[in-house]
Amino acid sequence: MTDRYAVFGHPIAHSKSPQIHAAFARQTGQDMTYEAILAPLDGFADSVTAFIAAGGCGANVTVPFKEEAFRLSSRLSPRAKHAGAVNTLMFDDGILGDNTDGAGLVGDLERNLHCPLAGRRILLLGAGGAARGVIEPLLDQSPAELVIANRTVGRAQELAELFCRGVRACGFDALDTPFDLVINATAASLAGELPPLSPSIFTAETLAYDMMYGRDTPFLSFARTHGAATADGLGMLVEQAAEAFALWRGVRPDTAPVIAALRT
Ligand code: ATR
Repeated sequence: MTDRYAVFGHPIAHSKSPQIHAAFARQTGQDMTYEAILAPLDGFADSVTAFIAAGGCGANVTVPFKEEAFRLSSRLSPRAKHAGAVNTLMFDDGILGDNTDGAGLVGDLERNLHCPLAGRRILLLGAGGAARGVIEPLLDQSPAELVIANRTVGRAQELAELFCRGVRACGFDALDTPFDLVINATAASLAGELPPLSPSIFTAETLAYDMMYGRDTPFLSFARTHGAATADGLGMLVEQAAEAFALWRGVRPDTAPVIAALRT
């Protein structure tokens, strides 16, 4: 029987994951299917259970179920524990929960965008689930500094205390020096909004990265106006998928042609 995989979310119709995993499967010659499943907002666990009963081997999890997937997992990878959220499930005698989002971001920055992180000054905007998921993988690259800035300063402080390791927390108004890398992990872009940032955080050496993809965001356009190079989150999406695929299938697909195909 062909191995079955899926992505669970709500909404899910817009998801590019089926297209990405189909491309990976073709490229690596894997016999598998990958579908998008709309789970009811109050029925995530039931949907996953039904999928396992129908022969599902693994799944991705997207908004708004990543924290629920964390609680549903019978075992957790260390990176899922740090993230407090799960985006990848593998079904064996239980449910293994993993989180490949942070590795996806680091992989996109280092491999695709040639932006090394060691010794760099990194600014992370936001203190929700998206920000939390990438902190440990960023710290593992030994940046010179990691600052978390958030509209609600208390949430940034809570995150900084959770990770220790010299992470600094502040509000947007305390930012007035340049960074090598500014990552937007706030939900502001979804609403077409711009966090209130000082232009002085950007120089011609700065890379401004928005985790959102699919359209130019006010954050990227503001950063570009102030001289920074910019990148959206499409590469991160494909890289996190490749990490999940490698976990399930034991083979790592080549992401570059898949990213290029999605951009056209
Ligand atoms: P996610 O899981 O996507 O991170 P979340 O946990 O709701 O979602 O977090 C959303 C993040 O975006 C928060 O950091 C939020 O700031 P607050 O903690 O102050 O709410 C941030 N955010 C949302 N809209 C924003 C806006 N218009 N400007 C700046 N930050 C915004």
